[in-house]
Amino acid sequence: MASFNNTILVTGGAGYIGSHTCKALFKAGYNPVTFDNLIYGHREAVKWGKLLKGDLLNMKSILKAIHIYRPIAVLHFAAFAYVGESVLNPSKYYKNNVIGSINLLEAMRITGINKIIFSSTCATYGIPDKIPITEDNIQIPINPYGKTKFTVEKMLNDYDTAYGIQNVSLRYFNAAGADPDCEIGENHNPETHLIPIALDAAVGRREKFVIFGNDYNTPDGTCIRDYIHVSDLADAHLLALRYLLDGASSDYFNLGTGMGYSVIDIINTIKRITGKSFVTVFDQRREGDPPSLLSASNKANEKLGWNPQYSDIDSIIKTAWNWHKYFISGE
Ligand code: UFG
Repeated sequence: MASFNNTILVTGGAGYIGSHTCKALFKAGYNPVTFDNLIYGHREAVKWGKLLKGDLLNMKSILKAIHIYRPIAVLHFAAFAYVGESVLNPSKYYKNNVIGSINLLEAMRITGINKIIFSSTCATYGIPDKIPITEDNIQIPINPYGKTKFTVEKMLNDYDTAYGIQNVSLRYFNAAGADPDCEIGENHNPETHLIPIALDAAVGRREKFVIFGNDYNTPDGTCIRDYIHVSDLADAHLLALRYLLDGASSDYFNLGTGMGYSVIDIINTIKRITGKSFVTVFDQRREGDPPSLLSASNKANEKLGWNPQYSDIDSIIKTAWNWHKYFISGE
């Protein structure tokens, strides 16, 4: 019987989006091998494929992983991703996100692995000059987190031109929701995101939910975001992987739905779906929050054939709620 290598190295595979993508890879017949330092990732989220505990700042351990497993491609999720913290401690972000990515690319160059999918972000656009945001929108990130991701996108271009490392950068909008089978879900520590914090308020683990700013230039005064289900993001990685394996050239895509919801819309949907009421109060704006982020996602649809299945807002909140009830709050 002919054997073929179907191993994919997944940096950050123990994290939120990485673990959902490992599930999608496994279900599609690939062999995901997670490389994660477990600083923010969870050992128990690695249910599909092996876990190698290692750090991208340690070149030897990446080289060892590549030598042993000879992956046909790399999916690169590993990064620190707290926008606020990145403003206070940029050194932590540049070291981990940029130097870690340089080490990974160097290890790929040395070992001849030439395909990579990179987790980028809508934060690379900064405050967009037009909405919805298309991929050709100018990228002027406004915080160190966005700048680290922007830097890696540019490095990838140069590594392609010089060394033929083909790459796809996926610019996520607001990742949300949980695995529809409820096997994995969102579990950040500390948690800063709207939906899990509001679900905490719904189960009584927080006495109130604080809305950061109601004086934005939006219909209800609160920020508008484009929420995309984590399983749809996982699916986009699978499609981007096949795209590169089929020989397509390097590219970059927005991943969002083009539908915008304000903070108040999300709170009202959470109250309706959970059947729980909780106190909400208005406070100051959170620094660095753009008023409105909305993706134009035709490109991922046209070139990758990506069609989000779970990203209507009710499915996002229902799957997040199921996960939160049983695994986060233990209700
Ligand atoms: N919000 C509140 N109260 C909270 C938490 C959030 O009002 O307790 C608001 C925020 O101010 C924002 C919206 O809810 O208007 C969404 O906030 P999240 O923290 O859930 O998500 P962000 O839009 O800030 O962040 C996301 C990704 C980042 C990415 C960023 C780009 O999580 O990785 O988009 O702007 F960098």
